[in-house]
Amino acid sequence: MKILLNEKQLNEGVERLAKEINETYGDKPLTIVGVLTGSVILMADLIRKLEMPLRVGVVQTSSYQGTDRGALTINAEMMLDIAGRDVILIDDIFDTGNTLEEVAQLMKDLGPTSLKSAVLLLKTGRQQVTWRPEFVAFDIPDEFVVGYGLDFNDEYRNLPYLACLEPSDLPSISN
Ligand code: IMP
Ligand code: MG
Repeated sequence: MKILLNEKQLNEGVERLAKEINETYGDKPLTIVGVLTGSVILMADLIRKLEMPLRVGVVQTSSYQGTDRGALTINAEMMLDIAGRDVILIDDIFDTGNTLEEVAQLMKDLGPTSLKSAVLLLKTGRQQVTWRPEFVAFDIPDEFVVGYGLDFNDEYRNLPYLACLEPSDLPSISN
C-alpha cells in the first residue's frame, strides 16, 4: 500500500477544515450530521476542534460493494431534528457526488435554515453532479483509497493514515 496522506498531513487538513468552519459560523449553534460509516474518524477529530455550541447526529448510507457501486440506501433515523438549524453534512469523500447529493436533498426537505457540506477528500475528475462541498480538506487523484475511516469491504477503516489500495493488496479470488 502506498501512503497518500500521513497522520500529520491528515491532522493539518482537519485543522484547516475546523478553522474555516469556525470562521464561517462564529458563535452560531451548529448541527453536524455525519454520513456513516466512512465519516466517523473525521467526525471525532473535527468536532473536537469546533468552538460553537454543537449538536452531532448521523445518517447511514451504503452504496459500495467492494469497489463496485451498488444501489444507495439511506437510513436517517438517527439524524436529529434539523428544522430551523444551521447544518453541515460531513462525509469522508466526494467521489461521484451522488451520495451527498441524495442525502442533501433528503435533508433540505426537512427545512434546515442552511445546509452546507464538508468532506475530507475530493477525488479529482470523478464528479457526476455540478455542485461541490463548501469545505474540502484535500483534493486527491483518482485512486481507490483506504484508511482514516475509508474502507474496502468494511476493512482498513482503522488505519491512521490514508493509503492507495493497489491490486497486489487484494486477496486473490479462489473458488
Ligand atoms: P459517491 O456517491 O460516488 O460520491 O461516493 C461516496 C461514497 O463512496 C463515500 O462515502 C465512500 O463511502 C465511497 N467511496 C468513494 N470512493 C472511495 C474510495 O476511494 N475509497 C473508499 N470508499 C470510497
Ligand atoms: Mg461512505
